[in-house]
Formats: sequence, C-alpha cells, structure tokens
Amino acid sequence: MRFPITLSGRRKAIALTGASALVVAGLVTLPAAMAHAAPGCDITYATNEWTEAPGSGGFTANITVKNTGDALTSWTLRYSYANGQTLTLPGWSANWAQSGANVTASNLSYNGALATGASTSIGINGRWSGSNAKPTSFTLNNTTCTTGGVTPSPSTSPSTGPSPSTSPSSSPSPQARSIIISPASVSVAEGSSSSVTVKLSAAPTSNVTVTLARSGDTSITAPSSVTLTPSNAVAGVAVSIAAAEDSDQTHGTATVAASASGYTGASLAVTEIDNDITQSGKVDNPYAGATGYVNPNWRSRAVAEPGGSRVANTSTGIWLDRIAAIAGNSTTMGLRAHLDEAVLQDAANGSAALTIQFVIYNLPGRDCSALASNGELGVDELPRYKAEYIDPIAAIMSDTKYSNLRIVAIIEIDSLPNLVTNLNIAKCATMNSNGGYVKGVGYALNKLGAIANVYNYIDSAHHGWIGWDTNFGPTAVKLKEAAVAEGSTVSKVHGFITNTSNYSALVEPYINISGTIGGQPVRQAKWVDWNYYADELSFAQAFRNRLVQEGFTSNIGMLIDTSRNGWGNCVQTPCQPIQTTRPTAASTSTVLDTYINQSRIDRRIHPGNWCNQAGAGMGERPTAAPQPGIDAYVWIKPPGESDGSSSLIPNDEGKGFDRMCDPTYTGNQLNGNNMTGSLGNAPISGQWFSAQFQQLMANAYPPLS
Ligand code: BGC
Repeated sequence: MRFPITLSGRRKAIALTGASALVVAGLVTLPAAMAHAAPGCDITYATNEWTEAPGSGGFTANITVKNTGDALTSWTLRYSYANGQTLTLPGWSANWAQSGANVTASNLSYNGALATGASTSIGINGRWSGSNAKPTSFTLNNTTCTTGGVTPSPSTSPSTGPSPSTSPSSSPSPQARSIIISPASVSVAEGSSSSVTVKLSAAPTSNVTVTLARSGDTSITAPSSVTLTPSNAVAGVAVSIAAAEDSDQTHGTATVAASASGYTGASLAVTEIDNDITQSGKVDNPYAGATGYVNPNWRSRAVAEPGGSRVANTSTGIWLDRIAAIAGNSTTMGLRAHLDEAVLQDAANGSAALTIQFVIYNLPGRDCSALASNGELGVDELPRYKAEYIDPIAAIMSDTKYSNLRIVAIIEIDSLPNLVTNLNIAKCATMNSNGGYVKGVGYALNKLGAIANVYNYIDSAHHGWIGWDTNFGPTAVKLKEAAVAEGSTVSKVHGFITNTSNYSALVEPYINISGTIGGQPVRQAKWVDWNYYADELSFAQAFRNRLVQEGFTSNIGMLIDTSRNGWGNCVQTPCQPIQTTRPTAASTSTVLDTYINQSRIDRRIHPGNWCNQAGAGMGERPTAAPQPGIDAYVWIKPPGESDGSSSLIPNDEGKGFDRMCDPTYTGNQLNGNNMTGSLGNAPISGQWFSAQFQQLMANAYPPLS
C-alpha cells in the first residue's frame, strides 16, 4: 500500500473509464415570448502551463462551465485554439474531441444536468509549441458564452445565437421588449452580497425605472428599483443582492421580481448560503475543542517500550482491517469495546468533546497495486463488504449510547487513487471495471455519513502520488464519483486525509517548488521529478481547493497523517547510529540536485518508497485546526505497527509479501529503481515492530521531551 505514482505515466493523461456514451446536445431554441429567459453560459478557462524545451511544453486546461440560462439536461462546449495546440485525450469530466483547431467537450452522464446558475468543471491536458494563447470564444449548445462574466465581441457570436432584431426599419414593439436579469439565479453567502446585471432587450428612448420586488426570506435584500438609461440599458447595470447574517440554519431563498411598464418582466432566484448550518447536526471541525481517544491496546504496547510513555497517551487510529476486527478478541478490543471505553474517556475529560478515529479498511480486492496489505475479501465480494462489514459497523456506531462521541471514519486508504494511476495493474483494472472500490466507498459513506455523529474523511493519497497535474484533477474526479455512488451525496463527506501511513514531510522549508537553482527549475530536480508539490501541507491545501471546485462542499477540511513524517532532529555531528540529520538551512549549492538533496527534510532514498522507512521519526503531534483548510494533524497509522514483512511470512490475514518492504530489493520503476530504504526483520503489516518504534521515537520531530 501507500503506492506511488507510475513514473512513466506521470505526464500521461489518465483514462477515465466508465464514461457514459456521448449525449448529443440539442440546439436550444426558445419561443420568442420566452426570449428573456434565453440560454446563457459563462466559461472560465484556466491553465497550468510548463515548458519542456525552449518554446514548447505542456499544459492543463481547467474549464468551468457555468449555465447562466435556462436549465440544461445536456450540453456541448465548443471552442478553438489559435496556436495549433493539441489535446491529450481523453481528458476528464467530459467527452473530449479535437478536429484541427476545433474542440468539443460534451457532458458525461453525471454532469449533463446543469440548473440555472450551476457550474461544472472539466479539464484536459495538452501540448503547445510556439505560444499557448487561451481561446477567447466559447459556445455552449451553440450559444455564445461570456468568459469570466465578459461578453465577447459580436463578431464571435454564432449565427444560431439569440439575436434581437437590429433592422432599423422595424423597431421592436413594446410587447417584445423585456427586462433581463443575468444570471437568472444567484447564491449569496450569508453576511455578504452578490451582484447581478439588470438590463433591457433593446435600448429605450428615455429612462426606464425597473421596480424590484423581493418576496421570500427577509434576510435577503435588493434595492427597490433601478433606473436604466438609453445609454446603459443594453449593457445593463449591476445590482447588489445582499444576505444579512441571521441565526437560522437554512439556506434561505427569495425571488426578486423585476417589472416596468411596457416590458416583459424577469425574475431572479436568490439562495442564501447559510453559515450556521452544521451538516445534519455535525460540527464543522470534529477535532476542534475535543480531546483524542487513546487506544488502550496501542497504549500498552507503547508504554512497554523503553521511553514509550512519552507518546503513549497520543490518540491513534483504530484500523478495522477485517470483519473479525469489529468483534475483536481476547487481546484486541473490538468496535463496541472501543466505543464503550471512549464514553468513559469522554466522561473523564471534563466538558470537552472526545474524538475517536476508526479506519474503514476492508474493500474487496484491497491494496490492488501492492501486496503487503491485501485483505480478506476477493475482488467480487462487494456484497460481503456491505452486509458483513459496513452494515454491522454502522449499526454499532449508531447506538445512542455513543451519540455524544465524535466518531471519525477514515475511508479506505489508497483505493480510489489506485483507480487513477495504477490501471496497468490487473487487479486495479478489475476493481475499476467491476466498480468494487467506487461502490464500496459510496456505500460506506452513505451508511456511516447518515449517522449524526460520524464524520467521513476519504483517503486521498499524498503529494508524491497525485501531485502531478495528470493525477491531481482526475483523482478529485474519481473521489467525487465515489462520493455520489450508492445513494451517497457530497454532503456525506466531511473531508479528506492525505499521507496516511506515508512518510512525506509536512513542510519542506527550503524547497521553493516554483523557484530555480543555478538557472534550472526546481521542479526539474530528480527528487521532485516535475511534481507540483514538495510537501504535504501545500499539497493538502491545494487539493482541498480542487475538491471544492469538483463539487464538494466549501467547508470540507483536510487531515494530514503526521505519525511518521518527522524525519529526525539531530543537528550536530556525529549523530547516533539511528538518528537522522535534519537540515537547518538551505544548501548553498548551485547544482540543482545537490541543492535539493542537501536541503530536503524528507530523507528517503526516493519519494516512492513507502514501507518501514529507515530514518523516519514521529511527526507533529495531533493538533486541531493547525493551518487554514486543515481540520487536524492526526496519527492514523499507529507508530510501531509494521507496513509489511521484509520477507515472506505465511499468515491467515491475506497479507502478501511486497518486495518494497525488503531492504535488499533494488527497486523497480515505481521507485526509480532505487533501494527500498526499508528496515529489515519486519513482521507483517499491522503487527508490532519494536525496532521501528524505537527509531520513530529517536527521530521524532519536534523531538520528544
Ligand atoms: C495493515 C493493517 C493495519 C494497519 C495499521 C495496514 O498496513 O494492513 O492490517 O491494521 O496497517 O497498522
């Protein structure tokens, strides 16, 4: 598990399978009387661009398609490139096609329906040579779109677009004149305001006063009228719609009706985005103001280690890694035993809430790209996953005895990212085509998220896996696909976790990913390997934004597993044998690779190494709300539990032997054919590994006191 990206594939677009057949968009035509409710769209075209040789390179285009007209059930976006750019199909979130300069992108089954005011994000990679001008003109279902709210010049309007009569001999009759409000629906954040444009379909000969009448939620307000003049009526004037702070917990709605004598009226639908809502009674950040549950089983192993009492009271994740883990046994507590103990710890911590973290980790065909954490369920055993694993967990968690606990469910480590980057591995391809991972995750989210005090955080890999733009967007898309599978909705997702069980440094203070060293871009360094991120914090914050763009709620929070990313604290020489030297300043070398290798905090041989890493230390202790967008630093992988055996050890848990855990293995393309850097004499994954625990304490950063 904790599998890295496939290096050779890092710049290849990742094929999304399961895309539905192209839905051919019909031309939108409206009866004349409805012309004020015309089709409309707005496109935001943003690029990430890089140069690979002088004058040429690649780019990622992220396009936000906003429907500012009537609701659509399907759509086709068209635009063209002026500089011979070529797209790398298939792209994501749309059916993409290119013919010469012309590009079309049609909706997939899940994003064809676009309500008035709704947006969807699509993207694709491409190549450029010479220059890479952004397209300036877009149509959606043959209607010319504005770009970032700006109307393109008339020469670019397609002939099929709605065009009011311009013939000087036939001035429009008063009945044909209409008021237009653009967009026709708007969201306003509570305590804030949004702007819409009120205009007329044709210039009047004298001033027209448009009356605006608001009905509905009284905390939403609009001016009572706006005056349009012969010179500004067609372009329109901006009108501010405000939503005052209120104390209710609903997204209030209102309608603003616009009328003027002799004109067809228009109406604006306003939705207040309430900021007092907690997701079905859930708090925004379950870690804020709470103490963390201490797992007695892990605690007793930690205190038994010399020096272990320094960390033994730290909250760590409880891995429900097989069906039998729900019941537990005479030595390992089961789910109910932990929750009962959590109630006691909650009672003992004063008025603070208590957060307890379970890892939901038992998908069919688990750990498809590696062997060390293969699980008990075969690739086709989704029905057992649901009935024998998720259902019993949900039944226990929903017991009212536990309703005051904040139960965090960490959902299925490594699974969905494997469907983005590792489809060349047969078992991952199977899990993609049989839907086992997507449906399993959707089912778990839906069942667990329905419980008022359970908070779902989906695993989203780490920067050294999906930090390349070819993997970044497609992973967000895949996570969304799972979040709406099996009856789940994005509201069942409270956030995401990165770096689970991995070793990526939280912050690399001496690596400026967009800088240069000795005239060479930092991204070109062997260690960075063109990644857009060098550490977990910057990655997690950026990925959060990408997930919101994909349609997850704007208050999602990220978790970062810092249990084993401390990377040493020895700053003098000589350091003790198992102590790791920690850089305290940037290297002064002007040779890029030397600079990076001397400056980096992460001391792995290669960022693709993931098993029982020598030299690693415990990282930041669990902390609530440490940085913007981050709900908490957490210890999900319990330090001291092995990542996998360093040689074959027969077992009855389905665990295999992965050579990435063998310190003598010289690697493969996934770790750049480097040594694995893993510790020898390791037991199978999950079992106690005393020597590793000692190393993790010796190399803790911040150091243990
Ligand atoms: C193992 C699980 C174990 C977990 C936590 C995973 O790698 O597969 O069995 O519970 O690590 O140590």
